[in-house]
Amino acid sequence: MKAIVIGGTGTIGSAVVKVFEDTGFEVLAVSRNSQLKADIENEESLDNLFRQSGNIDAIVCAAGNAAFGELEKLSDRDFSLSINSKLMGQVKLLQKGLHFLNPGGTVLLTGGIFAYKPWPGSSAIAMVNSALEGFVRAAALEISDNKKVMVIHPPLVAETAAKMGMDALPFPPASEVAQSYLEAVSKGKNGDALFVNGHKP
Ligand SMILES: NC(=O)c1ccc[n+]([C@@H]2O[C@H](COP(=O)([O-])OP(=O)(O)OC[C@H]3O[C@@H](n4cnc5c(N)ncnc54)[C@H](OP(=O)(O)O)[C@@H]3O)[C@@H](O)[C@H]2O)c1
Repeated sequence: MKAIVIGGTGTIGSAVVKVFEDTGFEVLAVSRNSQLKADIENEESLDNLFRQSGNIDAIVCAAGNAAFGELEKLSDRDFSLSINSKLMGQVKLLQKGLHFLNPGGTVLLTGGIFAYKPWPGSSAIAMVNSALEGFVRAAALEISDNKKVMVIHPPLVAETAAKMGMDALPFPPASEVAQSYLEAVSKGKNGDALFVNGHKP
């Protein structure tokens, strides 16, 4: 089985790469700066990626930026960045990736728990996370050949909490989060919105 992990060098993505490889997947780890490059905000680079990868069984996206900030201070630019990167980047990834997905294959997109449990400052992020869920639910109706599209909403991960100077203890490590990505790809159903084990809102 062959998988592409976009954001495969990041906190969540690198743990996903490891868990998938440990399970026997051949994994292509992709980011804007990896050896095999792609930028989800750039359609041409996605075309190039799939031309190089050929047909695959799973596409996992653990990439996409969105702006954190107080509602009144979020600029149009902050909202545009969030929409163009985390939302439309993953929309384009699905549209393009479907053509290269083997029958029965899965596309797993990443939202985030702010869609369900927002914090002050998370409105732009929560907006795109919720939009991704609606997109996936509707897109699933048009997907054939037993292919599946899903979105997973991770909680804050321990490594990220630590980087933010917070107590990491209440949060799952990326390795645990990655396990739920693997379960999503193997057991999730078309159109599902999924959560990391033990972190369902
Ligand atoms: N970490 C958390 O606590 C957490 C919680 C909930 C949701 N999430 C979501 O999970 C996703 C991954 O988060 P993370 O914390 O793992 O991020 P991260 O550590 O910053 O890593 C992001 C990864 O994505 C790549 N990337 C960034 N922009 C890209 C683009 N336009 N095209 C292709 N690759 C791109 C980065 O590499 P390059 O810079 O080389 O491209 C890197 O490999 C994000 O959507 C985030 O909102 C994270």
